[in-house]
Amino acid sequence: MDPLDQLLERGPAQIAAATDLAELEELEAKLVGRRSPLAEIRRSLGSLPVEDRPAVGRRVKEVQAELDQLIADRRHTLERAEEDRLLAADAVDPTLEVFRFAEGTQHIITSTIEEVTEIFVGLGYRVADGPEAETAWYNFDALNTPADHPARAESDTLYLEYTAPGREQLLDEDVRYQDDREVLLRTQTSPMQARYMEQHEPPVYVVVPGRVFRSDTMDATHSPVFHQIEGLAVDTSLTMRDLRGTLEHFVDEFFGEKMETKFIPHFFPFTEPSAELLVRWQGGWMELLGCGMVDPGVYEAVGYDAEALSGFAFGVGVERLAMVRHQIDHIRHLYENDVRVLRQFV
Ligand code: DAH
Repeated sequence: MDPLDQLLERGPAQIAAATDLAELEELEAKLVGRRSPLAEIRRSLGSLPVEDRPAVGRRVKEVQAELDQLIADRRHTLERAEEDRLLAADAVDPTLEVFRFAEGTQHIITSTIEEVTEIFVGLGYRVADGPEAETAWYNFDALNTPADHPARAESDTLYLEYTAPGREQLLDEDVRYQDDREVLLRTQTSPMQARYMEQHEPPVYVVVPGRVFRSDTMDATHSPVFHQIEGLAVDTSLTMRDLRGTLEHFVDEFFGEKMETKFIPHFFPFTEPSAELLVRWQGGWMELLGCGMVDPGVYEAVGYDAEALSGFAFGVGVERLAMVRHQIDHIRHLYENDVRVLRQFV
């Protein structure tokens, strides 16, 4: 067979079979390159009889043109395929799950504190906070608590070692009770009643959220560390009715419904009379807070005019509020930080 015909017969299939650009380049050299049979025929044109040359020359050109075209087309196709491959390798798959950082949310104790303080801010109260390491003066004496009160016993109160950081500074601030060198972890937020009154003239309307500590073992509703929100209102003519109205408003706002509540008489050294507010919970009554009319002894301890003033105070347990509202049956769920529990309250 004529070598040119042979080229035309095999060349197109070979070109079509080239799977990448390198292979095609090799093939191009072989088919139409300087050492190809085609080039050889072109070079040997001079040795042909003169009358044959134009025909053979034209034929060589045609074959060359046809192969060039096929090679160019194939190159184009292979380049496109290569581009597509690169693009595909680079592609973003929008159906893939996006990597996200787990987003934190407020703990239920924090959000409960915020909700409660907001209710009182809505009534015109301010928000304050105070130290967790406290002197016996503020935690007990300023609050009219006698030296032999059982709450002061080590079985109830966690006292701090002399070396505890901040102890000296705390005692220096405490000008009234230099004799009592006792520093403790506050057992209630009530010491902020005295601290706040010392720093502010009446009238006072303040709530104080914070962590408190007791030498208690944990059970379903008690923990050695828990949170309270103290409330104090001191003005010239506040009565027990104001106390009840304020707390009932608070309870209804917080629970978002009319709750069954009752006040029962109680004793606290710093209020007279004193009461406890209970709410209906899981078939029984849950004690939510202690309250009462501020005892004149407390006004005297902070230098207020006991004759001219009247006021009320209350201390509410934050964990209790959260438990009643969300039907949490054990206080430890609030501290274990099990995300399966926490997620339920976002
Ligand atoms: N501090 C009390 C407690 O921890 C609660 C309390 C009772 C606070 C009566 C008050 C109050 O402000 O008036 O048990």
